[in-house]
Amino acid sequence: MVTWTFIELDDVGSTQAVARELASMGAPEGTTVVARSQTSGAGRLGRAWSSPVGGLYMSFVLRPGSIPRPELSTLVTAVAVLRGVKKATGLVPTIRWPNDVMLHGKKLAGVIAEAHSTRQDLTQMLVGVGVNCNSPVAHISALNGEATSIGEELGRHEEVSVLMHSVLDSFSQLYDDWKAGEDMTQVWRGHISTLGKRVSVKLKTGETPFSCLAKEVDADGSLLVERDPEPLVIRSEDLEWLRELP
Ligand code: BTN
Repeated sequence: MVTWTFIELDDVGSTQAVARELASMGAPEGTTVVARSQTSGAGRLGRAWSSPVGGLYMSFVLRPGSIPRPELSTLVTAVAVLRGVKKATGLVPTIRWPNDVMLHGKKLAGVIAEAHSTRQDLTQMLVGVGVNCNSPVAHISALNGEATSIGEELGRHEEVSVLMHSVLDSFSQLYDDWKAGEDMTQVWRGHISTLGKRVSVKLKTGETPFSCLAKEVDADGSLLVERDPEPLVIRSEDLEWLRELP
């Protein structure tokens, strides 16, 4: 299990930037930066992440060394968030491939991961998690797209620190299994709402979005889609965006 140590901040630019700085100075695995709010919260692909007081904003340092399929980091973290939310609140989110945690079709949480490696070893991984815990939904939707929060769904305030520990416990268990080489495809089975749906996809390399049928997520965490004239494998790092079509 990971031994977590916490650096709790009030208002910060980005917990991810602080964790990056600490990691570069040798912070050990489990160092977790958590803030009440962020002024420059960062999402995937350089997007901003709206981070008012009320949300959970944390970034933690991992030093996995050699780990099978390091590219699974965002998907495994999304499952940890899903499990942590479920354990703390009873709500059951789903995952919109590759890393959006959703409730009733709206975004509840986002995950980001950065890795630094040598040839054999993953010397450092920085995982960032943002969960709309008690966040004002109108405020966050303006920047993050259609969003929901735990407070909104439950109609009551949820303790951010309870949620944080629940997510970290879930992550720790999954991380042990992952490092031990267990078959991780089992952990997201049944949780990815994208599968079996028609989706609209925009790749970083492609000019125009296209629609296709999402079939399966393989052991690398890539999405297999049916598309004319032949099937396609989409790696999360090649994705600009994916929308599930009604
Ligand atoms: C996404 O685009 O869906 C990922 C959002 C990740 C946001 C979190 S909040 C804590 C950490 N610090 C950041 O600046 N970003 C991540």
